[in-house]
Amino acid sequence: MAFFRVSFSVTVMVFLCFTLSQAHPPFNFDWVDSGGNGGGYFGLFPEYYQYSCPAVHDIVMSVLEKAIANEARMAASLLRLHFHDCFVQGCDASVLLDDSSSIISEKQSNPNRNSIRGFDVIDEIKARLEEACPQTVSCADILALAARGSTVLSGGPYWELPLGRRDSKTASISGSNNNIPPPNSTLQNLITFFNRQGLDEVDLVALSGSHTIGVARCVSFKQRLYDQNGNNQPDETLERSYYYGLTSVCPKSGGDNNISPLDFASPAKFDNTYFKLILWGQGLLNSDEVLLTGNVGKTMELVKSYAEDEALFFNQFAKSMVKMGNISPITGYNGEVRMNCRQVN
Ligand code: HEM
Ligand SMILES: *[C@@H]1O[C@H](CO)[C@@H](O)[C@H](O)[C@H]1NC(C)=O
Repeated sequence: MAFFRVSFSVTVMVFLCFTLSQAHPPFNFDWVDSGGNGGGYFGLFPEYYQYSCPAVHDIVMSVLEKAIANEARMAASLLRLHFHDCFVQGCDASVLLDDSSSIISEKQSNPNRNSIRGFDVIDEIKARLEEACPQTVSCADILALAARGSTVLSGGPYWELPLGRRDSKTASISGSNNNIPPPNSTLQNLITFFNRQGLDEVDLVALSGSHTIGVARCVSFKQRLYDQNGNNQPDETLERSYYYGLTSVCPKSGGDNNISPLDFASPAKFDNTYFKLILWGQGLLNSDEVLLTGNVGKTMELVKSYAEDEALFFNQFAKSMVKMGNISPITGYNGEVRMNCRQVN
């Protein structure tokens, strides 16, 4: 241990001399880890900003507290933003980039257009962080921190969050159109979309539990009400009184932007009610209900387990969020730490 300490600090000093001569060093002590890959270990780890930006957690949480107190739904919108980031070229903040000469923004993709939100809150967090620790905390990490903080502030689980992602210099509207599953997906489709990201059925069911908070637009569930199978009939797995209620929010023509809670029983509380509603035929999206009725793999059993045992759900949700947050991060000297999350430096 003593030897390790000495060699550690010597290496750190050598490293500091080296990095201080660089323009924008990806400054972190993890670089000196030489565990088995020639000193080139760029993994994420929770203490990444311990020295470079110790206030990061307080700053993120204080902005979130204010934003969510002002509008409870903001927690849901921020949680979803991290998902839509990670499923498109990894968790690299590509979703935050606006149109520019070199960028076609993902904000206009089919899953995102008229739907995704929370950018102002991310901007505010970024501005406060740039004041406290300039050019240090990446926008990709801000999205991950905002997703965790939003979950906690809504009553959900906390988890140790690996950090150290860097930001992309590119976006992919085709990736956004092709990699984020649509709400009328079959269960087999959902599993395939998740498998492509290295996520399994357990992750699919647990992460779908995010739909315990937030809302969806009529256009996202209209097919279920009026023409589920191309026969002008509603989805027969929809419970009757729930179905009638939805038709009043979501008429057969028009009203596409009318909204309905994903968990109508407790729309702002992160709990396991979402899974109970699915058991009662009251899941809002087709992609929610098919986790029970889709008859592939063991998702039905998982829905039942999470409906019965909230702690089991919370525990798995935390694990699956870490797994999702680890999808293809940019590390080391690749990418950059954006100064403004909406544009490359
Ligand atoms: C399993 C596949 C999924 C599908 C098909 C899906 C689809 C959707 C759709 C269609 C909406 C409503 C959008 C609108 O109508 O404007 C929505 C909302 C939401 N989704 Fe998902 N989603 C999935 C997985 C996830 C995951 C993995 C997360 C987070 C980890 C998530 C978090 C949310 C949240 C929190 C909302 C509410 C957002 C708000 O109120 O602003 N979803 N989702
Ligand atoms: C899902 O909706 C899209 C767009 O409305 C449609 O083209 C597609 O056929 C639907 N898929 C299923 C499985 O119903």
